[in-house]
Amino acid sequence: MTVTIVGAQLGDEGKGGVVDLYGDRVDVVARYQGGDNAGHTVVHGDQEYKLSLVPSGAVRGKVGVLGNGCVVNPATLFDEIDSLRERGLDPDVRVAERAHVILPYHRVLDGIEEDAKSDSELDAGTTGRGIGPTYEDKVGRRGIRIGDLLDPDVLRERLEYVVPQKRALAEDVFGVKTGEEFDIASLYEQYRRFGERLAEEGMTVNAGDFLGDRIDADENVMFEGAQGTSIDIDHGIFPYVTSSNPTAGAAATGTGVGPTTIGTGEVIGIVKAYLSRVGTGPLPTELSDDETEEELADQIREKGGEFGTVTGRPRRIGWLDVPMLRHAARVNGFTGLAINHIDVLAGLGSVSVGHAYELDGETLETMPTTTERWADCEPVLREFDGWSEVDWSEVAAEGYAAIPENARTYLEYVSDELDTPIYAVGVGPGREQTVVLETPFE
Ligand code: GDP
Ligand code: IMO
Ligand code: MG
Repeated sequence: MTVTIVGAQLGDEGKGGVVDLYGDRVDVVARYQGGDNAGHTVVHGDQEYKLSLVPSGAVRGKVGVLGNGCVVNPATLFDEIDSLRERGLDPDVRVAERAHVILPYHRVLDGIEEDAKSDSELDAGTTGRGIGPTYEDKVGRRGIRIGDLLDPDVLRERLEYVVPQKRALAEDVFGVKTGEEFDIASLYEQYRRFGERLAEEGMTVNAGDFLGDRIDADENVMFEGAQGTSIDIDHGIFPYVTSSNPTAGAAATGTGVGPTTIGTGEVIGIVKAYLSRVGTGPLPTELSDDETEEELADQIREKGGEFGTVTGRPRRIGWLDVPMLRHAARVNGFTGLAINHIDVLAGLGSVSVGHAYELDGETLETMPTTTERWADCEPVLREFDGWSEVDWSEVAAEGYAAIPENARTYLEYVSDELDTPIYAVGVGPGREQTVVLETPFE
């Protein structure tokens, strides 16, 4: 069977931890979208792993697949694999031959376009990894795929077509002088060698066949979403979004496993008990209105370690946005929820949520479709009594009933609003710091 893990908010909900949590019963973990913009953390014992491309099942020694829906920077992939090997892991990662390749000029163009947009506040605050420009080339039918790296003639032909266009874009449209990132001969040499290493290590696959065979053999496959529903290119707060579909439907298109197979499995929504955001754009429940709110945001940021896994940027902090979650539940069809970080909110006198929005005298229970209308929304807050600090490892060992009562009230409110059962509650970053109510592969 399959289980799909999806971020319900703005990314960084703790997806990596949940993949690791349920990973013991999994045979293969597959990413279906995104690239090295992701930063997924797994904490096990005294070890912390921050993974950008290698699927999080690697910490438990599970096979990882980067599906055709991913964009893959071979340089960061090999660096990550090498550094995990130095730490004693032995990641077995397969890469779809249909996945698109991030080239150095994509990263340069990502930066150039963000700069150009910043005057009109249209920049998304990207991770600078070249994600958007690579997906543009895929949709524009001028991208280079992993399979092309294995065939030097095809690689050269593709580079000869695309690189002069990219150089002209940088130089003639944006007026930026280009360097070796736009040099066909050096790109050819470097990427041909990446192709050789991929072939030597037997890493390339037809993802649909590879995963389909595993599923037919009754193995368990987990799909590891990156980013989150509200930064989905279709369903998110456009244009402050990423350039792929983190939502559950993409698990099918991004791997080649049919939607009927994925639909008979589980789709688990990962929820952070408050909001965090790296990047720009509006955020109606943001804690930034006055000094008291800013102090509270600082406190949560420090306690929750809310600094970007990839870029180190401080994350913006807000109360839980429940209309955002209702939208996510509908788009993804969650069968279960993992709600993380309730330990971070401990010790506050009260905890609020944005239960609904007020917009032009109307009350809305879900997100408006345009980001401009969303920016005009005033959250209708609902206040919950706070819960005190406890020994969370003990709570995790004892189970759900040991969670402070006020925190349980909060969790059950979320579950009721989304009409979805809670499968797990995160009470700390470690694998053992989770209260498990349901195990989806049982
Ligand atoms: P991802 O991108 O969704 O995998 O999430 P990130 O790894 O970017 O960010 C989540 C951060 O919170 C990581 O540092 C995790 O180790 C940590 N974390 C995950 N779950 C919990 C939790 O329940 N409580 C606390 N305090 N930290 C958590
Ligand atoms: P994980 O998988 C949080 C955000 C960026 C920016 C926007 C576009 O760790 O949850 P991009 O580089 O993708 O073109 O940037 O999306 N963003 C993320 N925010 N978590 C992530 O991944 C993110 N990946 C991209 O900050 O606003
Ligand atoms: Mg992250």
